[in-house]
Amino acid sequence: MDNLIQFAYIISAALFIYGLKQLGSPATARRGNMISSTGMLVAIVAALLDQGIVDYQWIVIGVVIGGAIGAFVARTVEMTSMPEMVALFNGFGGMASLLVGLAAMSPTAATFTLVTIVLSILIGGVTFTGSLVAYGKLSERMTSAPIMFAKQQMVNGAIVAGIVISALLFINFPDTGFWLFLVVVLSLAFGVMVVIPIGGADMPVVISLLNSYSGLAACAAGFAVDNNILIVAGSLVGASGIILTQIMCKAMNRSLTNVLFSGFGSGVQETTEVEGEIKPISVEDAYYVLEAASSVAVIPGYGMAVAQAQHVVKELMELLEENGAEVNFGIHPVAGRMPGHMNVLLAEADVPYDQLLEMDDINPRMETVDVAIVIGANDVVNPAAREVESSPIYGMPVINVDSARTVFVLKRSMASGFAGIENPLFYKDNTRMLFGDAKESIGGLIREFS
Ligand code: TAP
Repeated sequence: MDNLIQFAYIISAALFIYGLKQLGSPATARRGNMISSTGMLVAIVAALLDQGIVDYQWIVIGVVIGGAIGAFVARTVEMTSMPEMVALFNGFGGMASLLVGLAAMSPTAATFTLVTIVLSILIGGVTFTGSLVAYGKLSERMTSAPIMFAKQQMVNGAIVAGIVISALLFINFPDTGFWLFLVVVLSLAFGVMVVIPIGGADMPVVISLLNSYSGLAACAAGFAVDNNILIVAGSLVGASGIILTQIMCKAMNRSLTNVLFSGFGSGVQETTEVEGEIKPISVEDAYYVLEAASSVAVIPGYGMAVAQAQHVVKELMELLEENGAEVNFGIHPVAGRMPGHMNVLLAEADVPYDQLLEMDDINPRMETVDVAIVIGANDVVNPAAREVESSPIYGMPVINVDSARTVFVLKRSMASGFAGIENPLFYKDNTRMLFGDAKESIGGLIREFS
């Protein structure tokens, strides 16, 4: 039986890795999700048989209640609230590892097991409360501004010292439950303390980092209960979370330290001076320009998600193609509020994957584009990132829409984007502002075409 269970674990590990690989492309992502989920089902069934002493009654109750809540929220969550939902998932993952660590506690356990118990509780606790704060900041249930107070570093230092001392005391005197209790309380407090000084603007990166932590906590819990597949699954989540965090930081041209400690996105010093004037355009005039275009690039951003404009964007794309234009989409790696945000929305509207070009593929073609339509994107097309050395986003790679012959920017007002800074693109000679909700503006263009 034991061999069979270990074999099942190997199968599920292979399914996790293959599923993760498939998640790398929008075309195979759904399948990848199914494959990884199947791997998890195999792992859970094998783990239940492995333990042999489980009470199935409680497991069924847990599956029914948890499954129902999960299915309900997954069906009803707005696409723009997805990062908040991921934050909660990570937090509950951390709490699960904390509880596994507590359940694995035994005064007779070997020192190695005691260390892994402490780690699963520590990382799980930090992940739990840190994720709840990230959720609160993103959903604006609490202030998204960095929360700082006098002697904050000293308080943090005292908490860390308290965790280290109580962990050492627990490992040396495991009979005294008090020290472990102290590790739990201090870990929960530390999770709050590390996330409150970070601005809401940087929460997606923090969530990705906490995702990695939830994996590490699960990995530690796997060692604590001596379960191989939990170690493997936790390591995969830990590694992929940290890789994603790196990708996000790189796409914003910022270091992780800068994200965690600079309070970016709130109270940023505006240093971009703009020249030129705003030139609004009507839907009718925009239609005449588009009608004559033979090459169009669509650059979507967070505003497309807010307006839920992806379906009308697809309709416009088809009309432009019928009119003889070549249409491509330029996708910036951090457009929107979560990795792959734009890809998911456009896939939902059945935009063919081969028309979604990454930033590095669309930029060299931009000079040959007749019209670049910027739909609710702002920071990711901001030329200040290239041109203004003093800009807070200087050095961030952006989509060079200003190289196209004409640029249409669809947004409701002159409000700034996520980074809170001025965008000189709006004032360039070849830019026309099509003010209004993106879905309504595109709806207007569609009506003109038909
Ligand atoms: P943003 O710079 O946030 O700009 C979005 C624009 O959409 C705003 O200027 C807003 O202008 C417009 N908008 C909002 N609702 C709209 C509607 N209904 N119709 C039309 N326009 C609407 O978006 P972006 O260019 O996608 O850049 C993403 C930002 O998020 C970057 O700064 C990036 O670093 C940051 N970020 C992203 C991620 C990931 S992983 N994607 C993670 C962390 C941070 P109006 O209010 O005037 O309409």
